[in-house]
Amino acid sequence: MRYAATITGTGRTFPEKRVTNDDIVDRLEKGCITTDDQWIRDRTGIRERRFSSLKNPDEHNSSLGVAAARRALDMAGRTPGEIDQIIYATCSPDTLLPSTACWLQHKIGATQAWAMDINAACSGFIYGLATAEKFIQSGQTLTALVVGAEVLNPFINWRDRGSCIIFGDGAGAAVVERTEHDSPARILSSHLLSDGNLWEMLHIPAGGSSMEVTPDHFSKNLHKIHMHGKEIFKVAVRTLAEFATRSLESNGFTIDDLDWFIPHQANFRIIEAVAKRLRCPMERVVVNVDRYGNTSAATIPTALDEAVRDGRIQKGQLVLLDAFGAGLTYGAILMRW
Ligand code: UT7
Repeated sequence: MRYAATITGTGRTFPEKRVTNDDIVDRLEKGCITTDDQWIRDRTGIRERRFSSLKNPDEHNSSLGVAAARRALDMAGRTPGEIDQIIYATCSPDTLLPSTACWLQHKIGATQAWAMDINAACSGFIYGLATAEKFIQSGQTLTALVVGAEVLNPFINWRDRGSCIIFGDGAGAAVVERTEHDSPARILSSHLLSDGNLWEMLHIPAGGSSMEVTPDHFSKNLHKIHMHGKEIFKVAVRTLAEFATRSLESNGFTIDDLDWFIPHQANFRIIEAVAKRLRCPMERVVVNVDRYGNTSAATIPTALDEAVRDGRIQKGQLVLLDAFGAGLTYGAILMRW
């Protein structure tokens, strides 16, 4: 392999509106099912999340993506005209057609790029980064923009207290560029896997081509998120730990070599359980679920950007990104920063 890929810039953004657990309590009680701030904190670690206003075009999914992308481009010292590939990971696109990647391309003026969406739910950013890496390794792409962004609040199932408490909106982005195959700062490996047999664990039944949103489906809430939280929890802990181990071992590392672990942020208890299995001290784990909830494809790039900008992640350090999501999908990327 002549080339490798490296991240040269990161960025993130969140919508303005903070939604506390008490706000969720108020909204739920109108629907006659209950929860409380203490339960949500104890069982998920989430204190608040952000919701986009759908009336505000600046907070549409692609607009959040643009804001995050601009910050990543600034850090990388690149202009939109220098991007030749846009990969947009989302399961809450602006529109079914065109792709949110094309909306972003239009808004940011990346006229030399080709653009596509990836839907791997919460693993989307990992799938997108792995795809960009392969195009860069092949020599076809010089500069890629990978975005993980979601506006999930319109899909929240307010009749299900198990799932409505965890989701939030946000966007993260990374500029990924060609470097030499033996360059110290580069993506070292990517491991991806899906298990479609487990589709039922997290899905939105209606709104795709297999099921229109009829008045009957609407009244049954079939256009909203349906989640088997307890079951996903168990799979998540097992697979996040497995993928982290596989990633480290295939590169000849152990957990002691790892500087920063950035797992998908679905529930603080999942993160803690995985860290415990891996014997990874929590001081080396990047966490943002307490402030933003589960932003699906955006959790990893927003956590990565936060740790880069506040100086936790330093040049030469070993960083592991690790995700699971609807599908189910799994993936891990190990990189030297
Ligand atoms: O990135 C997307 C993938 N999704 C996930 O990773 C989600 C993974 N799962 C989870 O995060 C957790 O399973 C949840 C937060 C969804 C639920 O927490 P849990 O500790 O697994 O609760 P549970 O489903 O086992 O429910 C325990 C009890 C039940 O009551 P009973 O049957 O014991 O009386 C639930 O009805 O807690 C009840 N419960 C709640 N009570 C107050 C469930 N949700 C709530 C709630 N407030 N919001």
